[in-house]
Amino acid sequence: MNKITVTTNKKASMSDFYGIFFEDINHAADGGLYGEMIRNRAFEFSPMDNPSYQALTAWKRIEEGGASVSSFVSNKSPFSKRNPNYLILEINKAGTRAGIKNLGYNSGIAVKEDESYNFSCYAKSDKPCEITVSIDNAYGEVITEKSLNITSNEWTEYSFTLTSPVDDFSAVLAVTSKQECKFCLDFVSLFPVKTYKNRKNGMRNDIAEMLADLKPKFMRFPGGCLIHDGTLNSDDRNSMYRWKNTIGAVTDRPSRRNNWRYNQSLGLGHFEYFQFCEDIGAKPLPVLPAGYNPHMEQAVPLDEMQEWIDDALDLIEFANGTADTKWGKIRCDMGHAEPFNLEYLAVGNEEVGQGFWDRYDLFHKAIKEKYPQIKIINSAGPFPQGGEFERGWNNAKKNGSDLVDEHYYTSPEWMLANCHRYDNMPSDGPKVFLGEYASWGNTYYNALIEAAYMTGLENNAHAIGLVCYAPLLCNVDYINWQPDMIWFDNHRVYGSANYYVQKMFMNCTGNNLLDVKHNGFDKPITLGSDKISGNIEIEADRCSAEFYDIKITDIATGNVKTYENLSFSNGGKAVIDSIDSNHYKVEFTAKRTAGDKGFRLFFGKSDNKNLIQWFIGGWQNQDTEVNAQVNGRGSCLDHNIFSVMTGQEYKLCLEVNGRNITTYINGKTANTAIDKQPVMEELYYTASSDDNNIYIKAVNVRDTEITSEICVEGVNGINANVTELSGNSLDDINDFDNPKKVSPKTSALTAVSNTFEYTFPPQSVTIFTVQK
Ligand code: AHR
Repeated sequence: MNKITVTTNKKASMSDFYGIFFEDINHAADGGLYGEMIRNRAFEFSPMDNPSYQALTAWKRIEEGGASVSSFVSNKSPFSKRNPNYLILEINKAGTRAGIKNLGYNSGIAVKEDESYNFSCYAKSDKPCEITVSIDNAYGEVITEKSLNITSNEWTEYSFTLTSPVDDFSAVLAVTSKQECKFCLDFVSLFPVKTYKNRKNGMRNDIAEMLADLKPKFMRFPGGCLIHDGTLNSDDRNSMYRWKNTIGAVTDRPSRRNNWRYNQSLGLGHFEYFQFCEDIGAKPLPVLPAGYNPHMEQAVPLDEMQEWIDDALDLIEFANGTADTKWGKIRCDMGHAEPFNLEYLAVGNEEVGQGFWDRYDLFHKAIKEKYPQIKIINSAGPFPQGGEFERGWNNAKKNGSDLVDEHYYTSPEWMLANCHRYDNMPSDGPKVFLGEYASWGNTYYNALIEAAYMTGLENNAHAIGLVCYAPLLCNVDYINWQPDMIWFDNHRVYGSANYYVQKMFMNCTGNNLLDVKHNGFDKPITLGSDKISGNIEIEADRCSAEFYDIKITDIATGNVKTYENLSFSNGGKAVIDSIDSNHYKVEFTAKRTAGDKGFRLFFGKSDNKNLIQWFIGGWQNQDTEVNAQVNGRGSCLDHNIFSVMTGQEYKLCLEVNGRNITTYINGKTANTAIDKQPVMEELYYTASSDDNNIYIKAVNVRDTEITSEICVEGVNGINANVTELSGNSLDDINDFDNPKKVSPKTSALTAVSNTFEYTFPPQSVTIFTVQK
């Protein structure tokens, strides 16, 4: 009989183990968690944010029954110099209805029956003018309205509350006048009165509740590539994310290009992030840019880094300082006298290259000197292994960083193959912060395999400090990246299958990992083949290139074949051959003749979705990467920095031995990788505890049920809740029509002794919460 014995031995602390990662991607902030319902409220949208934007994006004139309206955007005498645009609306002929309306996000502005909304705007007019503010349905019928008189030619704030008598998810906010008049408008805002915890300038309640339900121990924010993808001058519209632009009066926060190709109002700024963390009981974990943009390879000169280092020191003061400090006072003035208790600070997101390491060192030294208690997080780049990943870790060890931020998005099969990735990591030295990870997909299969992988994370809590899935939020009409944990539109929200696995694990973590003993389980099953066979193809990747001296050597048989030269203009690829061998070599010379990327060698290719690719000058022509695709889902197996130059010859060689892969560029090793095959254990399990409960998690990824005895040491009988996810097809997903198709059920379990027998259903995730 299989048996799991959960001992009382505490192996490692898990106090802050699971958190969330909020990045303003997929309209996660504006049009998402941030409660503002007006899109482009300050008329600041610009083609720099997105080529399709202009200052009146999301606004439309109302000209009914012979009305004639002119709308201009001016910046001559703005209310806020940092948001200079405002609307001048001239009603030339009042007709039956004249004015302008805001279309909101998604299908429009979503209002609910009997719920109230705070309207506000700034307005001025040379002559007194009465205007009406209404929420209209999609047919232009008024749902609710109020009027106001603009009486001053100085900017004046107007505000009131509108209550909707009906549900309507395609409404607009209309500003109309029956008079022929001319007035200026700015910062037109509509917020639900009921934001999360009723905060002013607060969060959309339903999305916030989904996040709070996860019970995250920390929240990483505001990105992601969002933080470092931009220019170095904080006054530029497309600057990197600079937190000082995001605090103080909302009207003085400059509108910015969001690197995910939209506009960010910064209405959800650092004060609101800290406040939200406090509201959901999560420790704040801000990420700062390091004055180095890895995408553009722009860097602040080393002797001009003080401004950036001050940003870090001042952020700590803003979060934790008393009212008699400069930045602490700003926080107090914004309405939060108590400190936000910042403990963690990350410098950089996925940065690679010497430029980053040189700058990280400066931050680390300055922060630790002034605030030795702050835990600093170093970056290990965007790949799970390779040269820059190693440099990240080495730099962290050299500096004594507290944690190292690892990111990877992989196939589920990679997760099954790498479940023991952290088993041999030492417990001293920097800890892993798994700051971004996910398997590619939102199906039940993805969630199930992530659950199995997460048992491996928990079992290595000696080496892993913090873990968060990514990305967190996605507005279904503005997708930049998928999969995502939580999906929403203007009035609905649902958790993906992955969300429910995260929630199960996050709600049942406890503070300490417990030692678990087992016996009787079968040996793991390794899937797949011990060799990499299939087609070999060469590609000119977004460039013109010539390939010659092409040769494949089957080292196992000694067979050598040579092939004709290839030449491509503006991209193109060709199949060279197919090989079925456990040891072979592919050699060729490549020369780019024009273009901005490099070459790609496909091998072990069985179809377009199952293959391994070696990128030479890949992504932004910065990489040599080996990447394995299973069913169209890629996983990086190794990465190093490498750029291809036009006109230069590269002697390229790939050697495949079993599942070991080595690449060479001009005779030098470029990548070494192992394409590990997925392994299915009979059961994945882990246990942890807090003062009240013992949590036992078990994941069965196989398609057969598994029975085991479970013995819980230290209790006399079993009084437990069983939360279980099972009975779904592997390709099941949640959506708006069926938001809980994949979600767990809870039942009670009791036993008179401390041992019970349990049959884990096929492809299931089970958590026992055993009362102590
Ligand atoms: O999570 C989406 C993106 O993935 C993040 O912005 C970046 O850090 C990573 O590459």
